Amino acid sequence: MRLRPRVRPPQRALPRALASLFLACCLTACAGDGGSPGAGAPGVGDPLFPNAGNGGYDVGHYGLDLAYDPASGRLSGTAAVTATATRPLRSFDLDLSGMRVDAVTVAGQGAQFSRAGTELVVRPAEPLERGERFDTVITYQGVPGVITDPDGSQEGWFRTDDGALALGEPVGSMAWFPGDDHPSDKASYDITVSVPHGLTVVSNGELAAAAARAGGRTAFHWHVAQPMATYLATVAIGHYTVTKATTGGGLPVYTAVDPRSNDPQTAAAVSRIPEIVTWESGIFGPFPFSSTGAIVAHLGDRQGGYALETQNRPVFPGNEGTPAMPVTTLVHELSHEWYGDSVTPHSWQDIWLNEGFATYAEWLWKAHEGGPTEQQSAAAAFAATANWAFAPASPTAAQLFAPPVYNRGALVLHELRRTMGDAAFFRLLRAWPAAHRHGNASTEDFTAFCAHFTAKDLNPLFTTWLYGRAKPAHI
Ligand code: TRP
Ligand code: ZN
Repeated sequence: MRLRPRVRPPQRALPRALASLFLACCLTACAGDGGSPGAGAPGVGDPLFPNAGNGGYDVGHYGLDLAYDPASGRLSGTAAVTATATRPLRSFDLDLSGMRVDAVTVAGQGAQFSRAGTELVVRPAEPLERGERFDTVITYQGVPGVITDPDGSQEGWFRTDDGALALGEPVGSMAWFPGDDHPSDKASYDITVSVPHGLTVVSNGELAAAAARAGGRTAFHWHVAQPMATYLATVAIGHYTVTKATTGGGLPVYTAVDPRSNDPQTAAAVSRIPEIVTWESGIFGPFPFSSTGAIVAHLGDRQGGYALETQNRPVFPGNEGTPAMPVTTLVHELSHEWYGDSVTPHSWQDIWLNEGFATYAEWLWKAHEGGPTEQQSAAAAFAATANWAFAPASPTAAQLFAPPVYNRGALVLHELRRTMGDAAFFRLLRAWPAAHRHGNASTEDFTAFCAHFTAKDLNPLFTTWLYGRAKPAHI
């Protein structure tokens, strides 16, 4: 996958035996992108995370078959990555941080591979043709670690006292499986993790099987049918209390709570998941995935933590003494299932499309609950100096989750509502995730989309509230 057309890197000489073959092919198929097989790019061209994702292919499916040993922290197994080449490739990259790679096969044949930073460079025995669908199987092992971002926050693989928790935003999935770690390349997944008997593994999608394996182990197989970005993949391993329910609309709800994080506020919030999902569906449109729920982990008080909108069921970190799941945080994370997980940012620069909508969902919920009106929430956001540090459309990598992304992002939506009126605005809230269901969209896609909902010129609004740095004189 790659984001924008870029200058093609110089191509290396072809083995002579293949030259005539590619010459023939290039007369027809290779006129535009491609030509002789080259190296896939080490990134997709993300403006904030240049090495995230890779160029030259699109992943369709990840099949992870892993074993975890909580006592040593060791994770081992195979990742089967099914992808389609988007140009002729003699090598391509996968993202993987740490871990030891023991073997790689492509299309069933042993492949050469090398490591460079977070790039795993794979050179198949035979070059890949454009449009070719191919399976890459990586056998790997190691003690996965955490990744520290430019903003100082951490994601990746967190070891807990009895298990582990994987969080991926923005580039944490590469800590525990090799892949195309960028939001623009979504895929279906089958995630199987075996653990010592007595532990539970919770992940995305639906539990397809929990089966005994040799050596006193149990393998949990989670199937993710709808496309998922790598940053939304999770695995939670521990002693979880599992509750199954359904919403009024019949959507399965699978909730896993570490008993040590089950403070009264969290227990009360968990019990409201069906109500919240039903309320959000009434405003945002049908729930985009085939099940929902939540994971309330126990990270312990030495590790910081933040909630994350992992697909289907968001993760909430429990720390000793702090309520794990305030209801507004639950509303926020669940709203991301529409805004972020189903409509996923085209690049990390578009992050306000996630956080602005999720913050606005909180404002709507507070008003619904008889708290401050959306206008009052907007006024409070307008008044806070921290929200004016930069324009929501252009955070740096270190500002990905800074207040303007959330609150100025929500102010953009509030201004749209005031400009186009409630009827058009609530049509827009539903139409946007419907138009890009299970896809990707950019800030420019959004501003162009908005123009269909009003006859008014929205350019001044976007110039001031979305792209402008300066604080307007009044709200
Ligand atoms: N996406 C999370 C949310 O729902 C926030 C998040 C992810 C975050 N990584 C972070 C916040 C790092 C702060 C630091 O808002
Ligand atoms: Zn959020």
